[in-house]
Amino acid sequence: MDSHIRFDAREGVLHLLDHRRLPEMEADVACRTPDEVIDALQTMVVRGAPAIGVTAAFGCALAARCAAANAGAPARQRLEDDLDRIAKARPTAVNLGWAVARMRGALAAAEAGGALAPDEIVALFDREAYAIQQEDEALCRRLGRFGADLLHDGDQVLTHCNAGALATAGYGTALGVIRAAVEQGKRISVIADETRPFLQGARLTAWELARDGIPVTVACDNACAHLMSRGMVQAVVVGADRIAANGDTANKIGTLGVAILAEHFHVPFYVAAPLSTIDAATPDGTAIPIEERPAEEVTHMGGRRITPEGVPVLNFAFDVTPAALIGGIITEAGVLRPPYGEVISRALATRRGGGER
Ligand code: MRU
Repeated sequence: MDSHIRFDAREGVLHLLDHRRLPEMEADVACRTPDEVIDALQTMVVRGAPAIGVTAAFGCALAARCAAANAGAPARQRLEDDLDRIAKARPTAVNLGWAVARMRGALAAAEAGGALAPDEIVALFDREAYAIQQEDEALCRRLGRFGADLLHDGDQVLTHCNAGALATAGYGTALGVIRAAVEQGKRISVIADETRPFLQGARLTAWELARDGIPVTVACDNACAHLMSRGMVQAVVVGADRIAANGDTANKIGTLGVAILAEHFHVPFYVAAPLSTIDAATPDGTAIPIEERPAEEVTHMGGRRITPEGVPVLNFAFDVTPAALIGGIITEAGVLRPPYGEVISRALATRRGGGER
């Protein structure tokens, strides 16, 4: 798949494949300002934790251009404000704040010897955003190879939401594991939970895998227990939006239910995510902020109301799976095994020592 996030540095335009329109249409949304990027993130033009991070990085590059067009001291303050607002566009995926912090870190390092001119900041932010994008796809391929070793020829793997090429710079995390297993010659089939209310599984995971010729079947979210009870699922692999220091993991609403069922039916349950999704500053799952999204996502389907007027709804976008239900966290540094606290801090320390992201 061509990258669904394309930055035209010459024109100063970020082109995003609109996830809301898939699979019916491959439509492009063009962003020229940080506000347009924030809107695209909040309305789910692009979604999925690593893809959100990459998009945010290019949003910073657009913010640098806006500041350069209004040179002077207030312009620098405006750049800082724009970066703050981009970092807060969605609350749960830690990759968003991580990407903006990395852009800020690159700027601080470059300015150690003196302030940069506005057009130098533009060039620096362009370079850093492209680097984040390229590294993300490489990390997905690497973690995919580690995860593929956990799957067996003939396995049917259940996944929830979309943690694929669309949710990253390319290749995917959970779907990267599946792609890598297929590349190893294993016959793998996939059950994609439909993932109400935004239908990331039914629309996006099914679209990606079908395009790659990987056998995929869509099931309603509430079919999971039945499918596992019939021995139709040999492993679960999901992505993550934020992994706390103790291994508790926030992912798309419904993941917790899948994990509880997997434990009951003795199906291995794995989380696949780059180390940048681990938030060492969040001690456990209770401290992870959970996004609540507009009620219309639940009350309406295809533009038609499906719930009675006036009845309130709950639309939590994520839930937290306790570390105790996770058999392994598949990262670019290998598969982390429980108990996670110590293992996670060692993996993060090694990454810092090796100068990786
Ligand atoms: O609300 P979304 O679509 O951004 O939620 C996405 C997920 O929950 C994904 O599983 C997660 O971000 C991992 S993407 C590699």
